[in-house]
Amino acid sequence: SPSPPPVLPVLADQDAIGRAAGLLRDGGLVAFPTETVYGLGADATNDAAVARIFEAKGRPQFNPLISHVSGVDMAETLGDMGETTRKLAQTFWPGPLTLVLPRRADCPVSLLASAGLDTVAVRMPDHATAQALIRRAGRPLAAPSANPSGGVSPTTSQHVADGLGDRLDMILDGGPCRVGLESTVIAVDGDKVRLLRPGTITRATLEAVCGPVETAAPGAIEAPGMMASHYAPNARVRLNATSVTPGEALLALGPDVPAYQGPMANLSVTGDLVEAAANLFAMLRALDAQTPDGIAVMPVPHEGIGEAINDRLRRAAAPRG
Ligand code: TXA
Ligand code: MG
Repeated sequence: SPSPPPVLPVLADQDAIGRAAGLLRDGGLVAFPTETVYGLGADATNDAAVARIFEAKGRPQFNPLISHVSGVDMAETLGDMGETTRKLAQTFWPGPLTLVLPRRADCPVSLLASAGLDTVAVRMPDHATAQALIRRAGRPLAAPSANPSGGVSPTTSQHVADGLGDRLDMILDGGPCRVGLESTVIAVDGDKVRLLRPGTITRATLEAVCGPVETAAPGAIEAPGMMASHYAPNARVRLNATSVTPGEALLALGPDVPAYQGPMANLSVTGDLVEAAANLFAMLRALDAQTPDGIAVMPVPHEGIGEAINDRLRRAAAPRG
């Protein structure tokens, strides 16, 4: 039978959010904006709905999902929050920090969403539409980034429509994402905190609140956002480029850019890394769409949120599996 026409983004007004909440309660898939990237949402407590996320993304089933919550109250119904976790949530929520907690015995989240682990990842997004959607659905929403597995994360509703428009029930449009990089993911065990995925909430920022933060052991796929090849455009990505070869596209940063006539985008003309993070995925996509031989990326300082930007770039450049 012919496949249904792809869905188009709809403006996330109260009416649309109400319809989206109804679709989610019925086991549907709804893409929604957050401050980081667009999420591909489903009722986290519904096994079949969560399974549809993996199917739509083509995502390996061992890769667990974040449950998006309306606040600490909802988070506490899913996982055990100790003193350290509470302090981190109070400081950084709503916001781009995901907490991996021990799963409560009565945790209602589908085991499929935790990929069989005895932990559950929770985050409260800092976005009015996402918060309203969770409240009106009345349950946690499992949501990975709304892109086919391994591809570049979406920072606009159009990116979502391009990648997954024929595989979901609704796309809520809330404009471009303010942060542009996925949340920082940390595992909290008692007062021990480990960084599983760097993000715009940096290690230094976390350490000011909770003391030393360990790095997850290299090679261990604790958070599969840690898989080597991820966030990859079609074109080969070349890092730390100080010159461009004809045929390549240039992803520049800062005021001092090699003269170049070919496809080019600048992450931040002033070298502002917050602006660079917000632009990263959209610019990778825009350059990739011009089908260059490769994308040459100028060096990004490995300081502050530069750590998260370099993490995503390293994965975009990694040999494809
Ligand atoms: O900003 C974000 O985090 C976005 C928006 C939509 O909220 N979501 C997102 O989801 O990036 P996703 O599925 O692309 O990445 C989730 C990350 C992965 O690295 C996954 O391995 C990790 O969180 N994760 C989820 N549950 C986990 C768990 N129980 N233990 C360890 N890592 C977990
Ligand atoms: Mg992702």
